Amino acid sequence: MCGIFGYVGPRKDAVEMAVEGLKSLEYRGYDSWGVAWKESQFLNVHKETGKISGIDGKTLAGECSLVIGHTRWATHGGVTVANAHPHLNADRTIAVVHNGIIENYQELRDELKAKGHVFLSQTDSEIIPHLIDEELKTTGDFAHAVRRTCLRFQGRYAIVAVHTKSESIVAARTGSPLIIGKEKGGGYFIASDTPAFLKHTRTVQYLDDGEMAVTDGRSILISDIATGEERLKREIEIRWTADEAQKGDFAHFMIKEIMDQKESVARAVNQSDEEILTLADAIRNAKGTFLSGCGTAGMACRAGEYFLSIVAHKHVNFAPASEFKLFHGFLQPESLLIVVSQSGETADVLEAMQVAKSAGAKVLSIVNVQGSSIDRASDYTLRINAGPERAVASTKALTGQLAVLLLIAYALDGGVAQGKKVLLETAAQINDMLNPRYVVFLKEIAERIKDSKDLYIIGKGWNYPMAMESAIKIQEVSNIHAEGFAAGELKHGPIGLVEEGTPCIVLAGSDEVLPDIISNAVQLKARGGFIIGVSPVNNEAFDVWIKVPDAGTAQPIVNIIPVQVLAYELALARGKDPDMPRNLAKSVTVK
Ligand code: F6R
Repeated sequence: MCGIFGYVGPRKDAVEMAVEGLKSLEYRGYDSWGVAWKESQFLNVHKETGKISGIDGKTLAGECSLVIGHTRWATHGGVTVANAHPHLNADRTIAVVHNGIIENYQELRDELKAKGHVFLSQTDSEIIPHLIDEELKTTGDFAHAVRRTCLRFQGRYAIVAVHTKSESIVAARTGSPLIIGKEKGGGYFIASDTPAFLKHTRTVQYLDDGEMAVTDGRSILISDIATGEERLKREIEIRWTADEAQKGDFAHFMIKEIMDQKESVARAVNQSDEEILTLADAIRNAKGTFLSGCGTAGMACRAGEYFLSIVAHKHVNFAPASEFKLFHGFLQPESLLIVVSQSGETADVLEAMQVAKSAGAKVLSIVNVQGSSIDRASDYTLRINAGPERAVASTKALTGQLAVLLLIAYALDGGVAQGKKVLLETAAQINDMLNPRYVVFLKEIAERIKDSKDLYIIGKGWNYPMAMESAIKIQEVSNIHAEGFAAGELKHGPIGLVEEGTPCIVLAGSDEVLPDIISNAVQLKARGGFIIGVSPVNNEAFDVWIKVPDAGTAQPIVNIIPVQVLAYELALARGKDPDMPRNLAKSVTVK
């Protein structure tokens, strides 16, 4: 989704920093970008459609110390320069960047039009500088005008605004993230995500919903938008470093993050026993436990249902976060909602949490990003410690989420130590598995199936959610039509889709359901399917065998990894950029 960057302070290379900061936010997904900076008493603006990667900020502007910038992922209006941010008022004295959606924008736009305002774009965002302009007619104070403007919005937003007559940047949020970074020698950054300024500082303050910040680079004032009351905020040191957020020698973030799993699964297991046991108690004592998340994180939740059922004999219910509110009737004050999210910013998940909280229920979150909205709004949080995940396709976050959910299941069954042992052994097996020969082998399979029109994946038990997750990975980066099914469901319909040569991936373990899934693989083969088995043991039903370690209860963690590599190699073989998948964004902050 859209990215925001802002800086004011003693540095003179603000535009160059903004361009670099926006490049660090590229992973969020975008289709156009722009910057506005103050030089003398004027606002200069540069906007483009397409990628920012090749741009050198030095060539855009000379010395300047105040800048705002934006990467846009189109919602209202197509991908055009006019629709790109920053947006300006008529006399170009106010510039604004905006994330989110102003739901009542049509009504506000009509009101402004009646007053003679002319709009150059189709966006909801362009009304913001015009509204601030109107407010400035009655209050001379820029920050106050922004506050009054925000009070008129319905919907979720994060905005950063500048004015030719003010030395400050004004930022405000409700529903979309904004983080402030404070540099040691003076100067403040404002961004939608920390990688934008990690190179310069790790000291941050998080703006909460309904709050605004005004900074001139020397000090910052954070206040409540509705009341104007000052809010004192803690400064927090974030643990991630700028280097961790780089791709190093890897060609893409996706493959770097797949390879990171050699260590990240072990880091996910590094949880305090006491904390895990407290959370296990919370689940044990809850009257109704629900699991919720979106996309890949939702698949982790579905696997978590199996972990809790098979390992801990505990019944929990899963609903995708976007559907969760429809189950509100089952929530009580003693219920527990466990949400899973890499970014900690997904709008649908935040809404599910709101629904649970309104019923008085407690929320446990399993997140990756420290200080994210979900992290801060939860009653309890477990971090998966995956380190920055920048590729749009989630890989190492998923295996971290699976590891934490499995550990919780072991803890509920009284075996935290056993859970850690299983998972650490699995982490070591992943390290051995992800060797260069293995990757070359997967690349060869990708070459063989790259021109397929369709691809199906089957799994049973906890491998069923991994079959659906495999489909998500293949769909998003290679754009091949892929679907994941419960193996036993094939004969009830999906088998009708299989033609001569259709690649079918079979995810298996060495558990008691192996004979069932092999029988389903044989049925696919009999209809012409080209069977790719992902399993610790070979079988004559497989045309190709991708060997994985025998990981017992952690089998879904090891089974999904070769499919992640296969999806990556399929994307490359089909000439796609796996880090920039079509139509997708990393952090989905709109509903
Ligand atoms: C797919 C993918 C998405 C995310 C989903 C939830 O590879 O990354 O399906 O899993 O958008 O995002 P988070 O985990 O940030 O809540």
